[in-house]
Amino acid sequence: MARCVARELVERSGVDAERLVDLLVERALGEIGNYYYYTLLRMHLVGVEGDLLRRVVDDAREEDRNHFEVLIPRIYELGGRLPATFTGELGPLGGLRNLPAEADVPEILPVLLRSAEESVRAYTHLCGITSGKDHRTYNIALAILHEEIAHQVWFLEFLGRGVAEQQIRHPRAISPFVTQFLQSQRVSAFQSHSFPA
Ligand SMILES: [Fe+2]
Repeated sequence: MARCVARELVERSGVDAERLVDLLVERALGEIGNYYYYTLLRMHLVGVEGDLLRRVVDDAREEDRNHFEVLIPRIYELGGRLPATFTGELGPLGGLRNLPAEADVPEILPVLLRSAEESVRAYTHLCGITSGKDHRTYNIALAILHEEIAHQVWFLEFLGRGVAEQQIRHPRAISPFVTQFLQSQRVSAFQSHSFPA
């Protein structure tokens, strides 16, 4: 493997870089898997209750895609890469595959909630192993963690309060914590494609 300064610095600070990259790749595949399964799910949600849940799913879906986008640069900075192909389960929302085709909202919600809880656990772990050592990965993981906790709360609210309360749910901007990393990616992409003076 070519010399990778970011990886060297992370290792020097006491982080197992190989394990960290494995975890980041696992999360990235989980995020894009969630995006995929949310996309399938939103086509399945019908009726008043289904329509309301779809609005929540749409927000979570967009944010999970953003989580995927911000993880990728860090994986490559650390000398890792995504697998060219993959097999097996694509993230915790794969549990949706086990539901019958006619599953309704009360059956779907626990799967969504378990998936959000698993994400919260995973990003809490990532924050724990990078805190005070790998500041960049820590900041990215913490930003995603804030949004995963919001997903958990959205599903809990839906589960506990029912449809009436969901109708007055106040939407917030998409990815309020992760957007800063997406913006910095766009700036660096622009700079790398700008013409020399
Ligand atoms: Fe996510």
